[in-house]
Amino acid sequence: MATKKNKIKNIAVLCSGGDAPGMNCAIRSVVRTAISKNLNIFSIYRGYSGILEGNFKKMDLSSVGNIIQHGGTIIGSSRCPEFLKKSVRKEAAHILRRNNIDALVVIGGNGSFQGAMKLHKEEKFPVVGIPGTIDNDISGLDYTIGLDSAVRNATEAVDKIRDTATSHDRTFLVEVMGRHSPAIAVHVGICSGAENVILGPQDVNYSQIIKDNLRGHQRGKKSSIIIVSEGGEPGHSYKIQKNLKEKYDIDTHVCVLGHLQRGGSPSAYDRYVASQMGYIAVVSLLKDTKPMVAGHINGKVTLIPLSKCLTNKKFDIKDELNLIKTLAI
Ligand code: ADP
Ligand code: F6P
Repeated sequence: MATKKNKIKNIAVLCSGGDAPGMNCAIRSVVRTAISKNLNIFSIYRGYSGILEGNFKKMDLSSVGNIIQHGGTIIGSSRCPEFLKKSVRKEAAHILRRNNIDALVVIGGNGSFQGAMKLHKEEKFPVVGIPGTIDNDISGLDYTIGLDSAVRNATEAVDKIRDTATSHDRTFLVEVMGRHSPAIAVHVGICSGAENVILGPQDVNYSQIIKDNLRGHQRGKKSSIIIVSEGGEPGHSYKIQKNLKEKYDIDTHVCVLGHLQRGGSPSAYDRYVASQMGYIAVVSLLKDTKPMVAGHINGKVTLIPLSKCLTNKKFDIKDELNLIKTLAI
């Protein structure tokens, strides 16, 4: 009699949402683990849109050769608003089944996981998630693939800005990504020795910025770096700059780091975690059809129910903010 264990023969992998350095490592791991378990493995190009377009390709061992060191994702990613519709998810499940796909690996953030959960609940389609987003904002998880590389990219950029800021005795507002997540901002704040961190448009304390700037100058600081989290409004640093000039006569320079944070070679840590996640994601599909995430909790890569990873993470960053303040004295 066929057991649950041998029901799954063909699996597919896709990336969804914003790309993140390390996604290629996860894809490589999924493909090679699947082949080592005698499964057929297909990639779906451009996320959920790729399912609807029937954009599938059978992968072999060399399809993922020489990609571990590359940023982005070799199978592309997309945002697919149509997938918010139940009828479209039904059609997607139908297309997957027509292509003999038995289970789906979704690499993405909590929006992508919500899509995967619905595919499972509504269409009984087996899914597993791998967390890939530079924002590290998925509930139930400590870490998502890409944060470490994005923080490295941004910190390297701030180091360069610090050189020129120091030469000219300037204050810079350096805007980092994170949509509604403070993760990149607080990490970069600590790693770059920033003087201040602003967590978004609602978190601008002008009198504190001015007080800190003055104190720094008085003790002979030659530059000041204020890390600004985009906070759902990319570019809002320019408004802060305008207010500082018009209301307080303080000159600042703005540098919005933007997408350079999301590119480049994945860090060793992202490669390490993504490779483990790809492996346990495939193994989980063979063990059970319950929807799981190959997550990272308490320093370990482990399986977590997908239902726990569908919302935005609640951050407690009091200690980090306190550290930044203490060290910028
Ligand atoms: P992330 O996965 O990084 O959070 P998004 O929130 O942009 O990124 O979601 C990526 C894609 O996942 C969306 O374009 C859509 O196709 C799918 N998705 C997001 N939220 C849902 C939802 N509530 N139901 C179904 N699919 C969703
Ligand atoms: O979710 C990752 C992320 O890079 C966010 O930090 C940022 O707000 C958003 O994606 C940018 O999205 P896009 O690449 O579509 O402009």
